[in-house]
Amino acid sequence: MNYRHIYHAGNFADVLKHAVLARLIVYMAQKDKAFRVLDTHAGIGLYDLSSEEAQKTGEWQDGIGRILDTDIPAKAKALLEPYLTAVRDLNPDGGLTLYPGSPKLTRMLMRPQDRLSAMELHPDDYETLHRLFDGDFQSRITQLDGWLALGAHLPPKEKRGIVLVDPPFEIAGEYERLADGLHKAWRRFSGGTFCLWYPLKQGAPIAAFHEALKALEIPKMLCTELVVRSDRDTTGLSGSGLIIVNPPFTLKDELDILLPFLKDRLKQDRHASARAFWLRGEELPERD
Ligand SMILES: C[S@@+](CC[C@H](N)C(=O)[O-])C[C@H]1O[C@@H](n2cnc3c(N)ncnc32)[C@H](O)[C@@H]1O
Repeated sequence: MNYRHIYHAGNFADVLKHAVLARLIVYMAQKDKAFRVLDTHAGIGLYDLSSEEAQKTGEWQDGIGRILDTDIPAKAKALLEPYLTAVRDLNPDGGLTLYPGSPKLTRMLMRPQDRLSAMELHPDDYETLHRLFDGDFQSRITQLDGWLALGAHLPPKEKRGIVLVDPPFEIAGEYERLADGLHKAWRRFSGGTFCLWYPLKQGAPIAAFHEALKALEIPKMLCTELVVRSDRDTTGLSGSGLIIVNPPFTLKDELDILLPFLKDRLKQDRHASARAFWLRGEELPERD
């Protein structure tokens, strides 16, 4: 386990993932009934962007650094507000030093009746995350293989919730594992909203991954992808994608507003592109 998210915190991929996660939580919170967020690969929860690690890559400067406290068109601004307010609340003196990872962002958007279960396997990162949530009775932090949590922790007793699966893609076969993991988890919690993250880079088996997902019997599956640069430069990612199972009915329209803004603001060269389309359900999927 070499992956450490501090090097990537707040980058363009985090912006898309966390903006969408916030939309999912805001939608869940429209009903009084409690929900649970299961975060299978949680990271350390709070990132210091002034740290040596974050400064070394500077990835956040081409992510949240291009968005926070800048001019944003009104409709996109309204949709980004819950996410950006959380980031601002962590930096009350202005500027941008602290950035919320998925469990912290989730926790900031939860109501008193809602719950968070977060898994982190790396011993140091687990310790850091556990300390961050120390004494918080609404959150349960566990040092556990997140893939196992997809079985053992589903369905949640609230029977409503969001499952975020955000693995580090350090080892071969992670796309297949993601599709298999989703299938198993969905069979245990078919009414849940699932959000899966995946990287885009040269040679990534995206078409096969999408085909594998389409072959599952899951009826509603939305896909969104944001490419920020050409994949000819093989260092790092050229983009990232999310699969959202059982999305709120509003999400596709929201993405149609957000994506053109995010693409324009986060692009690194003329190969930038963005799309949102149904892999299964709602409308005929576009061809890859
Ligand atoms: C991409 S990062 C998570 C970022 C976080 N979800 C966020 O958005 O802020 C992936 C994390 O998964 C952890 N990890 C790796 N393998 C794991 C496993 N099998 N189970 C749980 N956590 C794992 C890594 O240590 C790393 O902290």
